[in-house]
Amino acid sequence: MKVLVTGGCGYIGSATARWLRAQGVDVHVIDNLSEGHEAAWDGPLEVLDLLDREALRAWCRGRRFDGVIHFAARCYVGESVEQPIRYWRANVVPVIHLTEALGETPFVFSSTCATYGEPQTERLREDHLQNPVNPYGATKLAAERLLKDRNAAGLGKCALLRYFNAAGASACGNFGEAHDPETHLIPLAVEAAQGSGRRLTVFGTDWPTPDGTCIRDYIHVDDLAQAHFLALKHLIGGGVSDAWNLGTGNGFSVREIIDAVESAVGSLVPHDEGPRRAGDPARLIADSAKAREELGWEPQFEDARMVVASAARWHIDHPQGYAS
Ligand SMILES: NC(=O)c1ccc[n+]([C@@H]2O[C@H](COP(=O)([O-])OP(=O)(O)OC[C@H]3O[C@@H](n4cnc5c(N)ncnc54)[C@H](O)[C@@H]3O)[C@@H](O)[C@H]2O)c1
Repeated sequence: MKVLVTGGCGYIGSATARWLRAQGVDVHVIDNLSEGHEAAWDGPLEVLDLLDREALRAWCRGRRFDGVIHFAARCYVGESVEQPIRYWRANVVPVIHLTEALGETPFVFSSTCATYGEPQTERLREDHLQNPVNPYGATKLAAERLLKDRNAAGLGKCALLRYFNAAGASACGNFGEAHDPETHLIPLAVEAAQGSGRRLTVFGTDWPTPDGTCIRDYIHVDDLAQAHFLALKHLIGGGVSDAWNLGTGNGFSVREIIDAVESAVGSLVPHDEGPRRAGDPARLIADSAKAREELGWEPQFEDARMVVASAARWHIDHPQGYAS
């Protein structure tokens, strides 16, 4: 199998590229290195901006892939509120360019639980109303729609994978999360516990949850990687286009994550209690039965404490991320 991975120098893309290669897949990565790290992927890499339509077409000409997995995007919710046009361009235009350049190649798309908006049920199923509350979620939903329309017109299949909170680092300890700025809870808590001087802020302690803090579903990057491989095999093997949630189905509160970080690092997480953040739902937990049943997905990290332990190892050994 020969697969194109866009954004393959980023956090989830590089984990997936390595995972696919370990399954014997011939993996080719495109990344413009705007956010990614060259050190995260040591296979074939084309440094190219997917917004450059002609450069992409020229590169794809004469190349044939069994599938494309599209991770490349801008992914900061707050930034998307301030710069919506930039997000519409960054997250929708590359999907148009890729579908034009690759014809009917099966398309696996990095979508997100942010396409659902405010949860109406305890666990979110794929048929939950999609009503995103920020531009980031809206751009991802638009790209989903584009791919559904392409599929309906018989122009190529798609697997829409809606991740919950991606977290964790590789088992070998050499690859992990390195975003700048970092906005995710686990790396920020580990950094604070390591004595960086930066305190963690807990956004709201009066939510209607058992300990008053928000509950999220943390999914390990290697479990996400496995799901991408299975989704691609599903499409190539004649399976129908569809959407699948990727989360463990287990919710962990911010306080529980802080406790897990404190045991993993062996020191307290200095933190402050701040007000609630607008647009943050109290709970965001996946119902991932569909991916398990239809794709045969078997996540290995069902307990967020295991995910936190793997992330903590990476951050302790790589205090400067890939620059360490
Ligand atoms: N991290 C999460 O918790 C999470 C949750 C849900 C969905 N997602 C989605 O998963 C995908 C990957 O997320 P991540 O956390 O690995 O992000 P990331 O920023 O680490 O990786 C994105 C990669 O895409 C590259 N890129 C961006 N724009 C590009 C362009 N125009 N041309 C070429 N390369 C470009 C960046 O350089 C980077 O390497 C994104 O689509 C994101 O929306 C992430």
